[in-house]
Amino acid sequence: MAPEATMSVVPSQGDGKVTVPALLHRKSIEGSPSQKIICLTAYDYPTARLVDEAGVDVILVGDSLGMVVLGYESTLPVTLDEMIHHTRAVRRGTRRALVVTDMPYGTYHTETAESLRNAVRLVKEAGAEAVKVEGGERRLELIARLTDAEIPVMGHVGLTPQSVNALGGYRVQGKTPDAAEQLLRDAHAVEAAGAFAVVLEAVPRELAAQITRELQIPTIGIGAGPDCDGQILVINDLLGLTFIPTPKFARQYANVGDVISGAVREYCEDVRSGSFPSDAESYHSGEVLKRRKLIHIDC
Ligand code: KIV
Repeated sequence: MAPEATMSVVPSQGDGKVTVPALLHRKSIEGSPSQKIICLTAYDYPTARLVDEAGVDVILVGDSLGMVVLGYESTLPVTLDEMIHHTRAVRRGTRRALVVTDMPYGTYHTETAESLRNAVRLVKEAGAEAVKVEGGERRLELIARLTDAEIPVMGHVGLTPQSVNALGGYRVQGKTPDAAEQLLRDAHAVEAAGAFAVVLEAVPRELAAQITRELQIPTIGIGAGPDCDGQILVINDLLGLTFIPTPKFARQYANVGDVISGAVREYCEDVRSGSFPSDAESYHSGEVLKRRKLIHIDC
């Protein structure tokens, strides 16, 4: 049965559904690799189904979809409506994993009341179970307000792609003593404000390990080394389905781009040569109709 047929927006205990309290609990069980939190992005129904059924704990509908699915040059143009559209599809394909959606650039950068309205839309209209916002100390008030409104928040510090213009590019963060201090303050601020987890992106391994030790909430690393409580990748990087250079931390597990190109080239060839469709792939008229030359196509 397709997940959407039985899906409820209410997680129930004991059915294996990944919940925010369950993720927080994992942090308290130290030392077991099986407690690592496995996260991956997905942007559509079939991918969400496959990712969910493969056992991923958290599916992030990342605003990276702007670059890997919608063809934008950065994540900055992604709109709230686009995030809602893709989150709805992902939610329909997900049974077990926690679905977290990125708040896109501009939807939480003005008044807190408007940011809250936007986050509520992601929960009510799209089915997001939590939202992710980029930024540390600057997001203290916002994160507190969202959690106060019963919206679980995942923080995101280090390299925050929505700050690409301010940062001057996509670079490793926290490399100088001052920058490392600021990153520590940012991670602590996100936790103090009430976030249930924090993404550490493009951060030196040693600093990510220190943050992971110091925080009570799980850290989810991307380009932050193996000592984080969990890991996340952009699924298109993992699958080899991207047209932009990938960072060194993005391990590629398949070459789906080549598989798609190969299949489509073969299809083109078969249509050109006339070998597709074959007789077996065609419908046939009944004998009486054939004799009377009354051709009727039965679907
Ligand atoms: O947008 C995204 O996919 C992300 C992950 C890379 C953490 O923010």
